Amino acid sequence: MRTIKIFDTTLRDGEQSPGCSMNQEEKLEVALQLEKLGVDVIEAGFAISSKGDFDSISNIAAHVKKPIICSLSRALKEDIEASAGALAKAKNKRIHTFIATSPIHMEYKLKMTPEKVIERAVMAVTLAKSFVEDVEFSAEDAARSDREFLVRILNEVIKAGATTVNIPDTVGYQTPDQFGDLIKYLMENVNGIHKVDVSVHCHDDLGMATANSLAGVLNGATQIECTINGIGERAGNTALEEVVMAIKTRQDLFNCKTNIVTQEIMKSSRLVSNITGSMVQANKAVVGANAFAHESGIHQDGVLKQRRTYEIMDAEMVGLKAAELVLGKHSGRHAFGNKIKELGFELSTEELNKAFERFKALADQKKEVSDKDIASIVADQVYHAPEIFQVHYVQVTAGNTTRPTACVQLIRDEETLEGTATGAGPVDAIYKAIDFILGEAIDLVDFSIHSVTGGTDALGEVTVRIRDKDRVFMGRGSDLDVLTAASKAYIAAINKMLSFRDVQTIKANV
Ligand code: KIV
Ligand code: ZN
Repeated sequence: MRTIKIFDTTLRDGEQSPGCSMNQEEKLEVALQLEKLGVDVIEAGFAISSKGDFDSISNIAAHVKKPIICSLSRALKEDIEASAGALAKAKNKRIHTFIATSPIHMEYKLKMTPEKVIERAVMAVTLAKSFVEDVEFSAEDAARSDREFLVRILNEVIKAGATTVNIPDTVGYQTPDQFGDLIKYLMENVNGIHKVDVSVHCHDDLGMATANSLAGVLNGATQIECTINGIGERAGNTALEEVVMAIKTRQDLFNCKTNIVTQEIMKSSRLVSNITGSMVQANKAVVGANAFAHESGIHQDGVLKQRRTYEIMDAEMVGLKAAELVLGKHSGRHAFGNKIKELGFELSTEELNKAFERFKALADQKKEVSDKDIASIVADQVYHAPEIFQVHYVQVTAGNTTRPTACVQLIRDEETLEGTATGAGPVDAIYKAIDFILGEAIDLVDFSIHSVTGGTDALGEVTVRIRDKDRVFMGRGSDLDVLTAASKAYIAAINKMLSFRDVQTIKANV
């Protein structure tokens, strides 16, 4: 049976989705989880794009040993040299180089003739090959390229030493029939294609990324490029969990397998969602909150009689536990510690103690504390930058006959700073009071709130995104009081922004 390689690009294409940027520690944590998940290749970043990306790739290369670590490069000398530098410490390394091959990209974006594009691609692969054995070439916008031209360029890059050729549907334009047919055509017409890996990289603009990738596999592709939860440019990439579970569940049809440890899927999904603040929609295939929930009486009755009546996969297969052990105020540290591990968090003793304190405080106010509550308070506590500011006190007056007014106290080092402001609503008033303390108007680009569980005593979880020049920082806060949650989220994002600014200043001064 063929093994399809899983090339994860959560840390490169995934990170390109608006507001999904991650810092170096967060990227390493995701990479370590991807290693446990069993992916074959981790695309850790785009080395030339920033010092931050270069350092993240290097850090991952130094710590993650099992999968191949890959860095993206345009077909340019300086990009390839940067990738080679960033990958220096990797045990298994790959340079991925790309150039666009569609008429519209060559004419308007590259302003290059097709001949020049082939020359550049060959130069890039040859140079990459001088640094590493494992070289991937991508024909960007392959799905809208002329087939004859694709054959020509792929013939040349394989001759130059490419070990993987990737066929992206960069703009998510193809239908499964068309894309499958394109892969078949290339398999039949490119010289030496059976000696290299043939990869597919599909975007989800028309909701067909998973179907297109699987059509590629049915027609000979040996590698799928994908991301956890399908995050990525615009509408995202192929979702790893979808293609992997489709291949596993429909082995009768695909007749192939992957190396993915499917029991790690849920943990990976939660980790990426917690770190990026990019929520998974409830009805998302495989990892959505409702993916294994049966609401209608007829379905519940059927599942009780024979699970397979309405369930094509077992929840346990993706790492969900059949029944939630609900913790309450009498639960001890040991049970809490076990639950934390089960939810996929690795905490230091100090972090565990802090999380346990928050859990106890919550359990005093709420009868039952669910897994979702625990995941929310731990994520809130773990995924934040150094606490430059802490929320100390928030008081708000609001109502339908009064102008919302907020008084906020923040602590920085040992000092208490206070601000008061009015606003269009209570959150606006709080954020203006915080802006006043900071002495700058923060650019809030996104605010969302949701209740972690049902009931009026549910934890409120707020996610915000703020922009500072061309970077977006995400912050999350959870609390029984939604206004406190909103304040915590705003401060968490501000702390990330300030520590990023600090690092930049330190680097500039070195
Ligand atoms: O979508 C795309 O074409 C890409 C390439 C760089 C592989 O992300
Ligand atoms: Zn892409």
